[in-house]
Amino acid sequence: MIYTSIMSQIEVAPSILSADFANIEAELNSISNADWAHIDVMDYHFVPNLTFGGPVVEQYIKVNPIKSDVHLMIENPDRWAIDYAKMGADSVTFHYLAVSAPVRLARILREIGCKAAIALRPAEPVEPLFDILDEFDMVLIMTVEPGFGGQKFLEHQMSKVRRLRDFITKNKLNVNIQVDGGITSKNVYLAAQSGANVFVAGSAVFSASNRADEITAIYQNAVSAYKD
Ligand code: DX5
Ligand code: ZN
Repeated sequence: MIYTSIMSQIEVAPSILSADFANIEAELNSISNADWAHIDVMDYHFVPNLTFGGPVVEQYIKVNPIKSDVHLMIENPDRWAIDYAKMGADSVTFHYLAVSAPVRLARILREIGCKAAIALRPAEPVEPLFDILDEFDMVLIMTVEPGFGGQKFLEHQMSKVRRLRDFITKNKLNVNIQVDGGITSKNVYLAAQSGANVFVAGSAVFSASNRADEITAIYQNAVSAYKD
């Protein structure tokens, strides 16, 4: 029964990190059969890469036909995350390592009407989040070191996903598990089987000859893991 309920919450979030930033409106329209557009904000400090900040993301959100999932790979999210919620992001994710007061920040985001999510890098254990989990709508388990698209999926992160899913199930919490990094229509089965239900895919979607079909394939392969 639990599997049926997770199956109904399976969502796909293509990462626009692999999109053509000069044609963002057309790029966003090309993934409109997905649930979320995943928007990676990087600041050259928390990760060794730079993308865009508030003023640009605000324009992206305006032309995005689906929900906006903002993934902040930045220092001091306590200061910046609220701006993204106020400009209309549907979900904002900040990193556990970067945040000073995760509960306070999550509560402010949710008060604005935005979903709150917290992210873990590959070397970070999930157990420190257990006592504050019901403050969040989603936990993001990174399946690559954050910073760049096109890296290889880190399979060893699946034991962390399993431990998190077990805890959520045992405590009857309503928290999504997102995986981000190196996800393809092939390995999504393993990620779903481990308990993830929201799937970010950048290069796999944007390099596909038919992006809509690739999104559907990711979705269907995730669903099949819960059916089997
Ligand atoms: C990496 C980003 C990811 C990335 C995923 O730091 O958080 O969202 O764009 O891209 P792929 O799917 O190519 O690994
Ligand atoms: Zn991301």
